[in-house]
Amino acid sequence: KRYAVIMAGGMGERFWPLSRAERPKHLWNITGGDCMLSLTFARVARFIPKSNIMIITNPAQIKGIKKYCPEIPQENIISEPVGRDTTAAVGLAALLVRLRAKGDESSFAVFPSDSAVNDAEGFSETIAKAFEVAEKGERLVTIGINPTFPATGYGYIKRSSEEDGAYKVERFYEKPNEMRAVSYLESGDFYWNSGIFVWLTSSISNALKDNAPKTFGIFEKIGRELENGGDFDKILAEYYPQIEKISIDFSVMEKSQNIWVVPAAFDWDDVGSWAAVERHLKRDGKGNIVNGEFYSCDASDCVVFDTANRVTAIVGLKDIVVIHSDDATLICRKDCTEKVKELVRILPPKL
Ligand code: GDD
Ligand code: MG
Repeated sequence: KRYAVIMAGGMGERFWPLSRAERPKHLWNITGGDCMLSLTFARVARFIPKSNIMIITNPAQIKGIKKYCPEIPQENIISEPVGRDTTAAVGLAALLVRLRAKGDESSFAVFPSDSAVNDAEGFSETIAKAFEVAEKGERLVTIGINPTFPATGYGYIKRSSEEDGAYKVERFYEKPNEMRAVSYLESGDFYWNSGIFVWLTSSISNALKDNAPKTFGIFEKIGRELENGGDFDKILAEYYPQIEKISIDFSVMEKSQNIWVVPAAFDWDDVGSWAAVERHLKRDGKGNIVNGEFYSCDASDCVVFDTANRVTAIVGLKDIVVIHSDDATLICRKDCTEKVKELVRILPPKL
């Protein structure tokens, strides 16, 4: 049996002040239309029955998911009491898939909720291929994207030998520094990690046991208590705070020897920061990207985004980002939009 799990517990801090705890980035669509989580769900629902697609999120987002993604079956919205990054989310996913499959052999794909993909057909084909590769044995399969610039916010996958359209992975490097990213890009042997993973439930469980034994042990305990009929929320609230906060990319993908990569036959963009919206929205005659009522004198290459029906007027600015939400305004140099994440850390909790 095949399952899918969409990870939707991230905060999307770099998209503050639009992205907030109760309505993070993936419950918006910066480029217009349905929110990114809805689009991800619809793409996955083309090849996995809706009842087998789980969303793993946190309590703050539940209301928003019900509101903005009404098509997601409510019983499949699963909430972690506290965010422990993606190793925990994958551990929980493996446990829930095992319980739902009731002893049958199962495999599942993990999807991030924050990537933009247009070619749903190519997406289905690539994931079907990845399932085939993953179901051949003890393999952790990722979907690789051809890199186009030396991004430092992604994982890099070095491919080695090919077998039936998939490549054995020599090494996986998560978020390299700029110098390394440049050399990986130039070597031509690397893919970006899309953040999509496919594996047999047994393969990822063994990989967690080997590479993240403490976390694995905690999920073993959670599993036993659930099987004894314990209350899901209570059990998770008891054990989750003990789990180490680390992403699956660092805990397992960088360490395991059984990694395979299937190249993506679809377009992909992670739209990671305000500067990245340039790749998706149209510019005016002066290179400004504008959403909302806007006036300017001598302003070029700015990004102005408004969800609060305000008028923005700017004079004599270049490469500046101005974002209005209902209760806050961000003004930032375009080359500093990655740092919005740091800003969010020092803001008071109400923001
Ligand atoms: N349930 C849950 N719990 N989901 C989480 C948590 C958590 O604690 N933390 C993050 N997520 C979700 C996010 O909402 C997102 O959909 C996905 O997991 C990936 O997390 P990010 O925080 O967005 O990771 P990243 O963008 O820094 O890096 C990952 O994605 C890149 C591609 O976009 C890595 O896998 C990179 O290797 C990859 O290149
Ligand atoms: Mg991300």
